[in-house]
Amino acid sequence: MIVTKEQPRMIKIKDRDQLRMIKNDDKESEPEQNGQNYEQDGDDNAPSLDTPTLLDNLASDDLLSFGYYSKSCPKAESIINKYVAKWVEEDRTLAASLLRLHFHDCAVHGCDGSILLNHEGSERTAEASKSLRGFEVIDDIKAEMEKECPRTVSCADILTAASRDATVLLGGPYWDVPYGRKDGKVSVEKDAELVPMGRENITTLIEFYQSNGLNVIDLVVLSGAHTIGRATCGSMQFRLYNYAGTGRQDESLDSRYANFLKRKCRWASEYVDLDATTPQTFDNVYYKNLQAKMGLLLTDQSLYSDPRTSPIVDALADAPSEFFNHQFAVSMTRLGNILVPAAQDGGEIRTKCYSVNSNY
Ligand code: HEM
Repeated sequence: MIVTKEQPRMIKIKDRDQLRMIKNDDKESEPEQNGQNYEQDGDDNAPSLDTPTLLDNLASDDLLSFGYYSKSCPKAESIINKYVAKWVEEDRTLAASLLRLHFHDCAVHGCDGSILLNHEGSERTAEASKSLRGFEVIDDIKAEMEKECPRTVSCADILTAASRDATVLLGGPYWDVPYGRKDGKVSVEKDAELVPMGRENITTLIEFYQSNGLNVIDLVVLSGAHTIGRATCGSMQFRLYNYAGTGRQDESLDSRYANFLKRKCRWASEYVDLDATTPQTFDNVYYKNLQAKMGLLLTDQSLYSDPRTSPIVDALADAPSEFFNHQFAVSMTRLGNILVPAAQDGGEIRTKCYSVNSNY
């Protein structure tokens, strides 16, 4: 099992009550709804995938709150929203990249902006980070934020909200983001090598998620982020030829889809859509693809081969797409709430997201 140096912890917002609680209990902050707020219903008869997690048993502080910037920087959310929209309008592919960047941030030392630090030997320089994009969007937002409310809004909070806004722009669900994350001062390349790259087995993935306080449902639901965005062919070409020394392609890959990929992937640096069927639409077709042996990454397709995860894939594929959207909002909130004590206690509010503050 992967062991992190420190157990992550999360604020106590959990399971299906989570979104209801967010809607009802925080009248104070009322962040913008972007006109696309997915109505999270509280219908107890609705299907639910929520289960308790490891974190339910951990002591957790209320470090995050919804009204966190309501006095110190009331425009924080609207600045983030405006800048994400501006960048995504110029280059729509950045929306998926921001979502992925947030995952890579939270999966190492919790959500502390450590992925954004740009120095020799930082997480950003790791192999697992090499195709990450969207750093300039966060730097741009931060520059504006420092003008509006200096040394107030953390880069980790900016990235968390930006990934939510990017999801909404892609047609995905809205969720309220609690704020108050601190920016960590430590970012180490080898820690980022722990982030899965697409060749891992399900046990490794489950253990990696558990080490971050997330459960097997979060694993399957968050993998649904691959309903949009692209991968480089280098991430999956090994499935096409002499897979695992068999002399053949990976048999869990549909043969027509494999032929398409062989034509498309002449070079490892080529891009290919993660969702072959509806690459531009945020929907549950990603899971239907897995049922049809059309998962691009080995880790995607493995979710449908393993008995621990395949029933969850079926549930998400067979229910209306809104069900996936709902679950995605729940699991994204849980991802965004991963906090590691050392990063938070020793943390700061960076003035530039790519480097720690010198001294002030
Ligand atoms: C099960 C764990 C995961 C694995 C093994 C995995 C693996 C990958 C790989 C290999 C790529 C393509 C990288 C490249 O070739 O350039 C990718 C792309 C992507 N991943 Fe994941 N991922 C995982 C979880 C997640 C999560 C939790 C999210 C977000 C919540 C996410 C969002 C994305 C997005 C949006 C892209 C496309 C990025 C773009 O178009 O720039 N992934 N992932």
